[in-house]
Amino acid sequence: MNELVNRDLEVVWHPYTQMKTAALPIPIVKGEGVYLFTDTGEKYIDAVSSWWVNIHGHSHPYIAEKVFEQLKKLEHVIFAGFTHPQAIILAENLLSIIPKNQKKVFFSDNGSTAVEVALKMCLQFWANKSEKRSKILAFKNAYHGDTFGAMAVSGRSAFTAPFDSLLFDVEFIDLPNRENLENLKSIISNLKSDLACFIFEPLVQGASGMLMYDAKDLDELILHCKQESVLTIADEVMTGFGRTGKLFASDHLINKADLMCFSKGLTGGTMPLGITTCKQEIYDAFLSDDKLKTLFHGHSFTANPVACAAANASFDILINPKTLANIQRIEAKHKAFKAQIEKHPKLKEVRQTGTIIALEWNTDGTSYFNSIRDTLYNFFLKKGIILRPLGNILYIMPPYVITDDDLDYIYQNINLALETL
Ligand SMILES: Cc1ncc(COP(=O)(O)O)c(C=O)c1O
Repeated sequence: MNELVNRDLEVVWHPYTQMKTAALPIPIVKGEGVYLFTDTGEKYIDAVSSWWVNIHGHSHPYIAEKVFEQLKKLEHVIFAGFTHPQAIILAENLLSIIPKNQKKVFFSDNGSTAVEVALKMCLQFWANKSEKRSKILAFKNAYHGDTFGAMAVSGRSAFTAPFDSLLFDVEFIDLPNRENLENLKSIISNLKSDLACFIFEPLVQGASGMLMYDAKDLDELILHCKQESVLTIADEVMTGFGRTGKLFASDHLINKADLMCFSKGLTGGTMPLGITTCKQEIYDAFLSDDKLKTLFHGHSFTANPVACAAANASFDILINPKTLANIQRIEAKHKAFKAQIEKHPKLKEVRQTGTIIALEWNTDGTSYFNSIRDTLYNFFLKKGIILRPLGNILYIMPPYVITDDDLDYIYQNINLALETL
């Protein structure tokens, strides 16, 4: 057995992995653009952007340079009572590209913590105003992370089952469509005096299988929440930074959420960092001579300067017109591929939003544990492509630097899988 793998097995416990039956981990020692390389020189196309984080390609020289520069200047400083240029620049940068109603930036470490902070901001917003509102509204099948608050507002599933009895109660509603919209609005109206907030993944529910829904319907729900004074949280952890074809999924909406969550692509996928933003009114509800109205939340590495430097470097690349052109190129390629395969008898549905395309295999039942998952995963690994199906849902979510040739190679192999598996 490979020496690195041997040592790994002795000491490491991997995420979302049944360590008894899982295949051996593949040791990666180098990344360049869309490619990952093993210690023995095998090359893989990272077609899932390493859990959806990588947007500009691996080991991007510009981000690496900025990270190194920052490391030599200041690696970290406590963020309570102190500040630093990279955090200020990042807050300014982010606020310049997200919806204009967002005014304040709160830092944390990852997507789950960005969600935790948003929930706490909403709950305490009402508490600080002496209004008793403690219920949270979320979509069925949502995924907002793995910490307890984030799990609670996620759909109950095999992932949450061992903890279900400890998760706080949440009102779950269906994804909106033309038929159920009025009913969803009346659910919100009936609950409004208890509802602290409504959290949602805008346009695409990622982990539950790239389930996609209409911006128009979400827009109406957000508007209704505003009319009923229910705060709204757009969890853009997955959809942010270009994934849906625009810089943010919220850019497809007329009505903007009151709070937003970011992570993953925030640093270009280089380093862990989370951000929660909010509108002025939320921030103002915490301003008081009463110290008990403070938002008592923070992590050791809040606004880590090196992570912020990576995010600022990623921002420079993101706003370069070439990046937007790449996003549009991938979107157009995906669209053409969808048109070519969507009638295939082995496929139940093909969905596409921006740079994400998802193919739902026609199997008996849709499940994360469907056996087609392993068959597809191994098939593509053998072809040098990392595609990690969510059960019977195969999806591509590549870094934006992927070439047309590499996309065509992935499409060809999907066609081959459809014909041969
Ligand atoms: C929409 C959404 N929110 C939150 C998270 C949690 O992010 P993290 O894994 O960084 O904690 C994820 C992760 O996949 C996500 O897709």
